[in-house]
Amino acid sequence: MVEIEVIQGDITKLKVDAIVNAANRSLLGGGGVDGAIHRAAGPELRKACIPFGGCETGEARITPGFRLLSKFVIHTPGPVYIDGLHDEPELLRNCYLNSMDLAEKNGCESIAFSAISTGVYGYPKKAATEIAVETVSKFPCQSVKKVIFCCFGDEMLKIYQEVLAGK
Ligand code: APR
Repeated sequence: MVEIEVIQGDITKLKVDAIVNAANRSLLGGGGVDGAIHRAAGPELRKACIPFGGCETGEARITPGFRLLSKFVIHTPGPVYIDGLHDEPELLRNCYLNSMDLAEKNGCESIAFSAISTGVYGYPKKAATEIAVETVSKFPCQSVKKVIFCCFGDEMLKIYQEVLAGK
């Protein structure tokens, strides 16, 4: 049984096997959590991403964590929210599915997610949280024993706690 935990904090400080970065399709860094992760990991992270030649929305790529406490970083570009009618829900679900898949394939026992697409990409927070919780809860984990949803602000923390309680 996978343990799911919700915390408030900075994902770059977590000592877990993998942290999941809300990246953009270039995979070359940016603002928000992407910027924080690249700053904390150091320049090798960007260098490790260059060979991927970018990543499609909903797909995921894995690299070492370099100077981070986490062994790996899983990079997944979330959808930019338009109106919910441009496959945003399915693309966001794919971010969580493909990230969990990479964690399993790399023998991770613990993984921490940032709230993908809920910042700059404007995904409605509650809907995004419902997709995150539902997708991860239903994932057939073997190696992954613990999933942490790492909320930066207290608004997201509250939403995650509500969704998990109501779940
Ligand atoms: N730790 C954990 N969560 C964080 C951190 C952090 N250090 N910094 C920000 N967050 C949270 C935000 O509060 C938000 O809830 O991560 C969530 C995702 O927000 P963004 O980082 O804006 O990511 P997203 O909405 O997916 O937009 C991605 O923004 O930063 C650029 O390069 C990125 O172009 C991409 C776009």
